[in-house]
Amino acid sequence: MEQQKRYGHFDDQHREYVITDPQTPWPWINYLGNEDFFSLISNTAGGYSFYKDAKFRRITRYRYNNVPMDNGGRYFYIKDGDTVWNPGWKPCKTPLDFYECRHGMGYTRITGRKSQVEASVLFFVPLGKWAEVQKLTLKNTSQQTKQLKLFSFEEWCLWNAATDMENFQRNFSTGEVEIEGSTIYHKTEYRERRNHYAFYHVNTEIQGFDTDRETFVGLYNEFADPQAVIEGRPHNSHAHGWSPIASHYIEVTLQPGEQRDFIFLLGYIENEHDKKFSAPQVINKEKAHQLIAELDTTEKVDKAFAELCQYWDALLNIYKVKTGNPKLDRMVNIWNQYQCMVTFNFSRSASFFESGVGRGMGFRDSNQDLVGFVHQIPPRARQRIIDIASTQFPDGGCYHQYQPLTKRGNNDIGGGFNDDPCWLIFGTVAYIKETGDFSILDEMVPFDNQPGTEVTLFEHLRVSMDHVINNLGPHALPLIGRADWNDCLNLNCFSMDPNESFQTTENVTEGSKAESLMIAGLFVVTGKDYIALCKALAERIENGEFSTLNSQFLAAEAARMQQAVDAMIVAVEKHGWDGEWYLRAYDYYGRKIGSHECDEAKIFIESQGWCTMAEIGAEQGMVAKSLDACKKYLECEHGMVLNNPAFSRFIYEYGEISSYPEGYKENAGIFCHNNPWVIIGECIAGRGNDAWSHYAKILPSYVEEKYQTLHKVEPYVNCQMVAGKDAFRPGEGKNSWLTGTAAWMWYTVSEFILGIKPDYDGIRIDPCLPETAGDYTVSRRFREAEYEIAIHPNGAQKGVKQIVLDGKPIEGTVIPYSKGRHTVEVTM
Ligand code: BGC
Repeated sequence: MEQQKRYGHFDDQHREYVITDPQTPWPWINYLGNEDFFSLISNTAGGYSFYKDAKFRRITRYRYNNVPMDNGGRYFYIKDGDTVWNPGWKPCKTPLDFYECRHGMGYTRITGRKSQVEASVLFFVPLGKWAEVQKLTLKNTSQQTKQLKLFSFEEWCLWNAATDMENFQRNFSTGEVEIEGSTIYHKTEYRERRNHYAFYHVNTEIQGFDTDRETFVGLYNEFADPQAVIEGRPHNSHAHGWSPIASHYIEVTLQPGEQRDFIFLLGYIENEHDKKFSAPQVINKEKAHQLIAELDTTEKVDKAFAELCQYWDALLNIYKVKTGNPKLDRMVNIWNQYQCMVTFNFSRSASFFESGVGRGMGFRDSNQDLVGFVHQIPPRARQRIIDIASTQFPDGGCYHQYQPLTKRGNNDIGGGFNDDPCWLIFGTVAYIKETGDFSILDEMVPFDNQPGTEVTLFEHLRVSMDHVINNLGPHALPLIGRADWNDCLNLNCFSMDPNESFQTTENVTEGSKAESLMIAGLFVVTGKDYIALCKALAERIENGEFSTLNSQFLAAEAARMQQAVDAMIVAVEKHGWDGEWYLRAYDYYGRKIGSHECDEAKIFIESQGWCTMAEIGAEQGMVAKSLDACKKYLECEHGMVLNNPAFSRFIYEYGEISSYPEGYKENAGIFCHNNPWVIIGECIAGRGNDAWSHYAKILPSYVEEKYQTLHKVEPYVNCQMVAGKDAFRPGEGKNSWLTGTAAWMWYTVSEFILGIKPDYDGIRIDPCLPETAGDYTVSRRFREAEYEIAIHPNGAQKGVKQIVLDGKPIEGTVIPYSKGRHTVEVTM
């Protein structure tokens, strides 16, 4: 293969990705912050910060899809004689003598060197703090004294990121700031209903500042040549309206070899309404002073940074594999888990592809995300389940999205996505298996956040299942509603107005015969989970554990659901099989979708994934045939496409799916999210070689090299979509970071390939591996136990022969849970 240009490499020892050329094919970003205060940061320090909600509480401004790309961020301008440069190359783009960006776990370190001055900035959000630390270290590596002029720069967003971009008749008159010493305060709208402000501080005396953008940048200049920096002097401007910014000006003298730290702090504060002001018009800065005092020296900042690193050490120690294959180990031990935390935090709200103003948290998305995250911090997953369930309707339907700040269902999009309810079972079951905490089922949870409507979480699960059962179509298969997992398969939409959203326009569900085989498979999988949950809980109640439910009721529920699941299996076998694969759906008129009878899109991935995971028709050979069909028709060099062949024209009856050009997104793109479904299907069928070859095709570290240029997006995380074989440029990636792919890749590799599956009574060991796999170990912290598990595959793809626990052979494949340290030897 032709030698490709490289932009960076993994540094596993430090758990970092090291970018060595700032001109990556697309901004390669990282996330800072774990809870509450968050930042996005690109490899050239672009990006923005927000508190909890990227739409309603945006702290700094960002320009999406701009010219040049990635415009706006936290910028340091260093003026050394006549040369102005930035440590991260942008925005001045002055050629640097050295550049490096290290994206790590919750931090980014960007280092630039120019004319024997080195500037290294460490960006991170300390644990539990509402602030971004920017520790800038300036070093003079020359033999001469250096006189430098340093300008910092942040641009304030007027809080609501949506109106900030459009309501200029108001915005240009509301901006307000205060300046006190080395701190610039942003207090737009604080005089009225807001109880929050932000600040930008530096821990040294400043020689000037600017807070008015026009004065600092100049009306016809750019971030690349700000007027004040060019002139080499600040204007001490005080913003009144227009666009407030924060820029410190510091004169720095460095002796040969001398280095100096500057701690910049971007903070966010909330005050109680009656304590907002310390004098008329003057904000109460007490909490800001406190926060600053906690982080105003190198020692304090280094300590906070060490705490953040320890926090990640602990999180990543929960599940650790050693296979001797660094490409696999680094994804499992570092990047996949890291991406899971990020998607759990943000759902699909804020990335370089999601503007943060459009969507909040997805109902189905968040349930899936938490499966990738639950082993890390179970209490947060617990809270998330309650929040999600609180947006459900009494009939089991749900809001498709909710806002993280208000936790309220999003009326713009509403409900009617008929797969949504099943995901609540998926998420809750994962939580209980991880923690053994059945008490969550007794939590009282409202419907649609209405006080007085509270029922147990178990009842939410029950109505979720019922929502499917009560919405079956003419073939006794689930009605699809607005859409199922595939948001773009809009079989009841019939929109010809380009100004309408396919997702939110009124649906013609009345009298519709549109049914989904994907929901059918999902229902069987989650139905079996529901039955197992009922039985596990009943067993505990019989053993004297407390629950508001009783075991007779649970036995009846399990039996009722078994009937529904059996009926669904029969319906799929009878009406959902096309001869070589599972159908995808029936349309409004009851015509087949995803059949050899169709002109295009004869086969779809989603129903193959879910129906094989559900093992529907396995005995009749359906599962094996379906998996073979995926290999034959869907697989290509870069992964499995969503459907094949792609739609070449818009089909009014199908909605958004056929609106995409061939090979992109839901029209035959490689939607990485659903590849793991088929991979798990392969694992359940025991086909380890096939499972592995599908998995490695979309595993970032496996394709890192060839993807440095073709793929474009970050080579350390999965992206939502890679252009499929019908696309103009197959293999090109888009929409990185916030995708259900993260959780599904994790679930697949940790539980189905490596085979460590949390279960109600312990850990089930059931790997499915390629024949070539060697011995490996997994250390797994599980509840209050630690398991050191050594697996000897002996060339087998599947099938555990013997498990020896603490030196004694056990029956079956479940290691019974007990506290303490244990060693486990597994022979396949
Ligand atoms: C959405 C998911 C959806 C998927 C497929 C993603 O953008 O977040 O909810 O299942 O697209 O349409």
